[in-house]
Amino acid sequence: MTVSLLIATVLFAMQDSVLQAESSLVLYDESAIPPHYKPFKHFTFGNHSVTIKQNWAEQGVAGVVWDAAVVLCEYIVANPTLFLNKKVLELGSGTGLSGICAYMEGSRVTLTDRPDSLDVLKENVELNTKQCSNKHIEKDALYKVASTNVPGCTPSNKLSSDSLSYIDCKVLDWAQRDNPLFDITWDVVIAADVIYIESSFEHLLQTMRTLKYSKMLFSCRLRYAKDHKFIRKARECFTINLILYDKSRDIHIYSFSK
Ligand SMILES: C[S@@+](CC[C@H](N)C(=O)[O-])C[C@H]1O[C@@H](n2cnc3c(N)ncnc32)[C@H](O)[C@@H]1O
Repeated sequence: MTVSLLIATVLFAMQDSVLQAESSLVLYDESAIPPHYKPFKHFTFGNHSVTIKQNWAEQGVAGVVWDAAVVLCEYIVANPTLFLNKKVLELGSGTGLSGICAYMEGSRVTLTDRPDSLDVLKENVELNTKQCSNKHIEKDALYKVASTNVPGCTPSNKLSSDSLSYIDCKVLDWAQRDNPLFDITWDVVIAADVIYIESSFEHLLQTMRTLKYSKMLFSCRLRYAKDHKFIRKARECFTINLILYDKSRDIHIYSFSK
């Protein structure tokens, strides 16, 4: 009696573990998971590998990678001189993909977003700069990396001996009228997929007008009439040129200048 009970228990446990293994297989079948629900996304841009941790459940639109960011990364690596040793600010960074890519091209990058979106941003910065950060972390900067003596640090092959590649995350809410980042003159401001909430358009335009910079690259998908309206409205205060249209992903990259 005891022996047959023991055998039944073992068989039940085996069946249970087979079921568990099967359900694990389903969970880890990457192709079955919609892009936004994938916990990690891996990208290769030129010589750079980037891994982005996504968190749609908790961070919503800020916690996932959008095509506009991917196309902007492709533009960044195709135009390295625009980014080498440049001071770059990113608006509405979300997971930070584009800014991280600019950092890997040798820029000093400040990624920005709303306060409640900074956690996912910082996690992704850490994930992609780990090799470099341990020895070089500084008090008032998340990561400041001396390029020459850090073997394995992605940007090192690009930078001259005295250059510093740098990446940091800061709050910049477009509704803010005051922010120390407005006092800095940036070489390049980048933004990907930031036009989607109509009520924020006026604030976004105001932020773009207030910032000081030489060049702005604005990557977007124009999904709705309101998005076209944003571009028309922006033309009243900026000179806007289309510099790239990716047809397969329906992404425009515009340059904005004041
Ligand atoms: C669609 S996501 C794009 C994220 C990322 N740039 C990308 O393309 O993968 C829009 C981003 O804009 C940010 N955002 C929205 N309203 C904002 C505001 N008022 N101030 C600052 N950032 C804002 C969101 O938090 C989010 O990260």
